Amino acid sequence: MKLVVAANLLLALLLSGGCLPAWTSDTKGHMFGYDDHNGPSHWAEEYETCAGKFQSPIDIEEHLVTQVRLPPLHFHGFQSEPISSTVTNNGHTVMLQMNMSKMASVSGGPLKGNYLFTQLHFHWGYNDSVGSEDTINNHTFPLELHIVMYKENYGTFENATHYKDGLTVLAVFYEIYETENQVYSEIVQLLPFVTMPNSQHQLKKLITLDSLLPMTKHLYFTYNGSLTTPPCLEVVTWIEFKQPILLSHYQVEAFRKLKSREGLMTHNFRPVQPLSGRPVWFNVADDMSHEKRGHDSAANPLETSYVLVSFFVLLLSVLER
Ligand SMILES: *[C@@H]1O[C@H](CO)[C@@H](O)[C@H](O)[C@H]1NC(C)=O
Ligand SMILES: *[C@@H]1O[C@H](CO)[C@@H](O)[C@H](O)[C@H]1NC(C)=O
Ligand SMILES: *[C@@H]1O[C@H](CO)[C@@H](O)[C@H](O)[C@H]1NC(C)=O
Ligand SMILES: *[C@@H]1O[C@H](CO)[C@@H](O)[C@H](O)[C@H]1NC(C)=O
Ligand SMILES: *[C@@H]1O[C@H](CO)[C@@H](O)[C@H](O)[C@H]1NC(C)=O
Ligand SMILES: [Zn+2]
Repeated sequence: MKLVVAANLLLALLLSGGCLPAWTSDTKGHMFGYDDHNGPSHWAEEYETCAGKFQSPIDIEEHLVTQVRLPPLHFHGFQSEPISSTVTNNGHTVMLQMNMSKMASVSGGPLKGNYLFTQLHFHWGYNDSVGSEDTINNHTFPLELHIVMYKENYGTFENATHYKDGLTVLAVFYEIYETENQVYSEIVQLLPFVTMPNSQHQLKKLITLDSLLPMTKHLYFTYNGSLTTPPCLEVVTWIEFKQPILLSHYQVEAFRKLKSREGLMTHNFRPVQPLSGRPVWFNVADDMSHEKRGHDSAANPLETSYVLVSFFVLLLSVLER
């Protein structure tokens, strides 16, 4: 178990959802970044896949999505407190990793198989009107969370990156609100400890994954795309929750005070990429899994009465014969 955790952490550090840490020796020349000389328009010079046809992020046009009824998503261990967690500034983003006795995982929805948690990180912009990678009807959000997970069957994160269905990323959008979000204060308070690139900090108060997700988890967009950082591998099933989480302006501003090797990390989002005819689905199926996590997972009363009415209609038609 220890070995598996250690191996996964190592691989997470090496590949970490495409967010390559700044301290890995760079055999390919320059490090990628978000500035004029090393930004997204240059990535394909060193990482060919970044010029691929099925890249992320994308603009999701709500009038073009296909409404689908997928099986419920199942979150395992999202409410468990990790044994320990580490926050890292890797020079490209701020990332959170966890040791758990049983690693958190997700299954169901569009996924075939079980996907294990690797790390989560954020993308943001120069000001509150930009920052998210994906956009909805060309609307950008000030911040976006990516929870990176790999398919358990592939054994390791690294191995999973060789398969089309190797990874899933759960994405959350944020909007600015006038008051602070208490849950996210826990994350924001950690940022000053990792201002410098390559710095790490152990968390005292342990954060659960569930506390970072929106209440409504059954309404989401899903499509097949890529990592949004080099090597831009096209191996990601994206799951993007529709309900944004509210943060204050100052909470988002705190991310912009982190530093990369180039100076302030004012922005780290990749612009949207061509859809190239890919379908985007929007799940409209109710989450009937009855997991005890708030009102949103309760059965839809309309649907319940519909089932009851159907049952009586059926009963009557049988009795009439
Ligand atoms: C996981 O535990 C190991 C051993 O206790 C520790 O060295 C490592 O920093 C921990 N990782 C995280 C992400 O907390
Ligand atoms: C936010 O930053 C973008 C990119 O630099 C800029 O185009 C835009 O005008 C800025 N918006 C505001 C409200 O300052
Ligand atoms: C979003 O922007 C693209 C490119 O400018 C445009 O074709 C599309 O119509 C826009 N979508 C909406 C919903 O405004
Ligand atoms: C990678 O995953 C495949 C498919 O599950 C498996 O057969 C193979 O042994 C794995 N390789 C490694 C190095 O784990
Ligand atoms: C994503 O790819 C898988 C095959 O790998 C396919 O079954 C699924 O329909 C695709 N999803 C979408 C939204 O196109
Ligand atoms: Zn990301």
